[in-house]
Amino acid sequence: MVKLSGINVAYGDRSILRNADLLIRPGDRIGLVGPNGAGKTTLLKVIAEEEKPDDGVLLVDSGTVIGYFSQNVGELSGRSALEEVLAGAGSVYEIGQQLSKLEHQMADPVAEPLSDADMDLYGELQTEVLAREGYDLEYRSEAVLTGLGIGPERYHEPVEHFSRWLENAYRPGQDPCIES
Ligand SMILES: Nc1ncnc2c1ncn2[C@@H]1O[C@H](COP(=O)(O)OP(=O)(O)OP(=O)(O)O)[C@@H](O)[C@H]1O
Ligand SMILES: [Mg+2]
Repeated sequence: MVKLSGINVAYGDRSILRNADLLIRPGDRIGLVGPNGAGKTTLLKVIAEEEKPDDGVLLVDSGTVIGYFSQNVGELSGRSALEEVLAGAGSVYEIGQQLSKLEHQMADPVAEPLSDADMDLYGELQTEVLAREGYDLEYRSEAVLTGLGIGPERYHEPVEHFSRWLENAYRPGQDPCIES
């Protein structure tokens, strides 16, 4: 669950979010709709902790993974569409990468065996991934892409390829469809 209460964000003396409340429950699918400049991205940045509110409280249940796919294609960098969504999940994804590196080392007959410290680390990382339901991250990321109209044949295309697709998806007066 993610809960925002009494959130205020102002840029200079312009108030963007005023006393905003929001509750996101497990399984919720939410569309955020509003005119350009209304503060949609600002709200998402508060949830992703990229923007610190001037006032108010953000509560995020432990084990919740916040992913954020920017509407600014210029920020996207050389990764495939799938990698970009996975990376959006932040540290859970990085922990998964670390785990699979250790697993490869364990499975490799010519590699150094894992040290005791590495074995301890492996156990800790595994617990962390389990607690945060990180094991089906790839499956869930694929579902996000499919939901955006990007099918399996395009999962591994560089994310930049989609900028033209995004521009085409954009109609004046509407938000680009990818974020909101
Ligand atoms: N870092 C910033 N500094 C100053 N003003 C900002 C900053 N970020 C956003 N703003 C302003 O805050 C307002 C809300 O911006 P925001 O990006 O949240 O709107 P939005 O609803 O996502 O708009 P769009 O539909 O164009 O994506 C806009 O007027 C924007 O110019
Ligand atoms: Mg926006």
